[in-house]
Amino acid sequence: MCGIVGYVGNRQGLNLALDALRRMEYRGYDSSGIAVAGTDEQGDPVINMVKHAGKLANLEARIAEIGEDQLRGTTAIGHTRWATHGRPTDSNAHPHMSFDGRVSIVHNGIIENFAVLRTEIEQAGVELKSETDSEVAAHLLAFAYNDGPTAGDFRASALAVLDRLEGAFTLLFMHADHPDQIIAARRSTPLIVGVGENEMFLGSDVAAFIEFTKEAVELDQDNVVIISRDGYEVLNFDGSAAEGKPFTIDWDLAAAEKGGYDSFMMKEIFEQPAAVRDTLVGHFSDGRVVLDKFDISNTDLKSINQVFVIACGSAYHSGLLAKYAIEHWVRIPVQIEVASEFRYRDPVLDERTLVLAISQSGETADTLEAVRHAKTQGAKVLAVCNTNGSQIPRESDAVLYTHAGPEIGVASTKAFLAQVAANYIVGLALAQAKGTKYPDEIQEIWETLEEIPGKVQQVLDSQESIKQLSDELGRVDTMLFLGRGVGFPVALEGALKLKELAYIHAEGFPAGELKHGPIALIEEDLPVVVVVPSPRGVKLLHSKIVSNIQEIRARGAKTIVIAEEGDTAVEPYANWLITIPESSTIMQPLLATIPLQFLAVNIARACGNDDIDKPRNLAKSVTVE
Ligand code: G6P
Repeated sequence: MCGIVGYVGNRQGLNLALDALRRMEYRGYDSSGIAVAGTDEQGDPVINMVKHAGKLANLEARIAEIGEDQLRGTTAIGHTRWATHGRPTDSNAHPHMSFDGRVSIVHNGIIENFAVLRTEIEQAGVELKSETDSEVAAHLLAFAYNDGPTAGDFRASALAVLDRLEGAFTLLFMHADHPDQIIAARRSTPLIVGVGENEMFLGSDVAAFIEFTKEAVELDQDNVVIISRDGYEVLNFDGSAAEGKPFTIDWDLAAAEKGGYDSFMMKEIFEQPAAVRDTLVGHFSDGRVVLDKFDISNTDLKSINQVFVIACGSAYHSGLLAKYAIEHWVRIPVQIEVASEFRYRDPVLDERTLVLAISQSGETADTLEAVRHAKTQGAKVLAVCNTNGSQIPRESDAVLYTHAGPEIGVASTKAFLAQVAANYIVGLALAQAKGTKYPDEIQEIWETLEEIPGKVQQVLDSQESIKQLSDELGRVDTMLFLGRGVGFPVALEGALKLKELAYIHAEGFPAGELKHGPIALIEEDLPVVVVVPSPRGVKLLHSKIVSNIQEIRARGAKTIVIAEEGDTAVEPYANWLITIPESSTIMQPLLATIPLQFLAVNIARACGNDDIDKPRNLAKSVTVE
C-alpha cells in the first residue's frame, strides 16, 4: 500500500505534493519522492525529480539541499512507498523516470508480469535503475510515445502501455511534452479524483486534496482518467468513454487521514478484504501455486518432513491455523511454539525441518532470535511477513510477504487475516511440492480462498448487529471464548483482542476442554462466545459443540454464538446469534474472526477506552526479548 498524489493547477506542485504525502504517510514510509513538470535553463519543458529513502523528513531535507527553485512547476506527481518489490532504497523510491528522461511515473500495487517486461526493456538496450516492478511502466511509455503507431500521442501511448500490464495498479503518468496533463489508471487499487476551480487533483485517498476541495469523483475499476486545469475525462482501458461518480466529501482533514473512520484500527478492519486479496495476488498461475523470493530448492522442499511454526501474539494464532492446514493438506507433523519459548527448550530440528516464522513487523525480537536458533540447527526458515526488507525476512531462507499495507493500530486485525491467507498459500505450496494433493484439488482450494475477500466484505457490511449486541451486553468483567478445530485459534484471537482493547479478562479454550476445569468459571450471566464450525463440515464436531453450548447455558452463561448462515440447530441455544457466510471448514476463521474484532472494539468503547489504536502497555513491535 503506497500513497499517491497528482496535481495540475496554478499552485506550486512541490509544496502541494509534500503536504499531501505528509497526510498519506500512514500508507507507507519506506521512501518518498516528487516529480514536477518544469523547465530547464533554456526554458524548455523538462521533468525535475527528487526522491529519498526513508521517512518524508529525509525528502524534505533533500529538497532543502537542492533548493525549491530547482523544482518549480504547477503539475506534479508524488509518492510515499510501502515497499513490495525491491528494498527501501533511493533508487527504488518513486517516481521512476524513463530512459530518455521525458516520462515520470508513480505506482501503487504490483505489476505481476514485470519480469517479462523488464527482460524486453533490457533487450532493447535500456538499463533499469531500480529493482522495482514499477519502473517498467515509465520505459514502456517512452517506447510507445517515441516510436510506432502511438508516436507523439500521450493518451494512445498510455493506453497501449496499460494494455500490457497485469496485476493490480494505480499508475500516474506525466510527460515532459504535455506539462499540463496527468494520465492515471486504476485496477484493483485506489484512486480518487479531486475537482477544484482551474485545478485538479488525484489521490490514493481524499486526504491528498481535502484541504483544497471537497468535490471528488470516484472511478470504477479499470478506468483511466486524464486531468488538466480545465477538468477531467474518464475512459475505459480500451479508450472508450466512461463516467466517474461525483460525490462530496463530508469528512474533515483529521478524519480524512483515517479514511473517514474514527481510528486507524476501524479503518484497518474495513481494509481486510483488500488485505486478503492483495496477499493472494500473483500466487496462483497456470494451475500452480507460486511463491515469491523462495530460495529453498524444490528438492529441499520435497524432503521437508516436519514443520515448526514460531510467532508471537496474533501472529501465533495465525500459526495455529497453519498447523491445521499443513497437517491436513501435506500430511506431515506441524509443531507450533510461541517464539519466546522456542529456543529455550532445545527443539529437535534438522535440515529436513521447515521453520515458518510469522511476523507482521519482521522485527519482533522473540521471533528473530527463534529464527537465528533454527538456522544454527540447520533448519530451513520461511518468513511470512508484512514489512518488506525487515530483519526476519532478511535472515530467512525464503519469504512470503503479506500485502496488508501498513498496520498502525497496535492490536493486529488486517495483518492477522493476511497472515492466515499467506499461511494457507504456504500449505498449498508444500502440498504441491510433496505431491500430497492433486493439482485439481489445489485449484479447488485456491478458488475457495479467492472467494474470501467478498465474504469478508459481507461480514463487514453486517457489523451493526454486533454494535447492538455490545450495547445490550453492557458492562462485562470477564468473558470466555470457546471453539473447536479451527474455531479454537479464532477463540484465542477473540480473547486477545478483548484483552488488548478493553482491558477485560478474557480467555479462549477448546470447547471440549471446558468440562475438564474451566467450566467452574461459569456463573449466572457470564458472557461466553462460541465459534461454531460449519454444519456442512465435520458433522460430529458441530454436534459436539452444540452439546458444549448446552452445558454452559445450563449453568447460566449468556451465549454469543458465531455460526454459519442457515445453521438453525444452534439458534435455540444462542442468546445472541451472529451469522457469517458459508465457507469450507478451513476458511471459516477468515470470516469468524471479524465479528470478534468488532466485539472487542465496541466493548472497549463501552468501557470508556476510546484510544483503541494505542492500548496501554503495548507496542506495535517489541524489539526486546
Ligand atoms: C506485539 C503486538 C501484537 C503482535 C505481536 C507480534 O506484542 O502488540 O499485536 O501480534 O507483537 O508482532 P509481529 O510484528 O511479530 O507480528
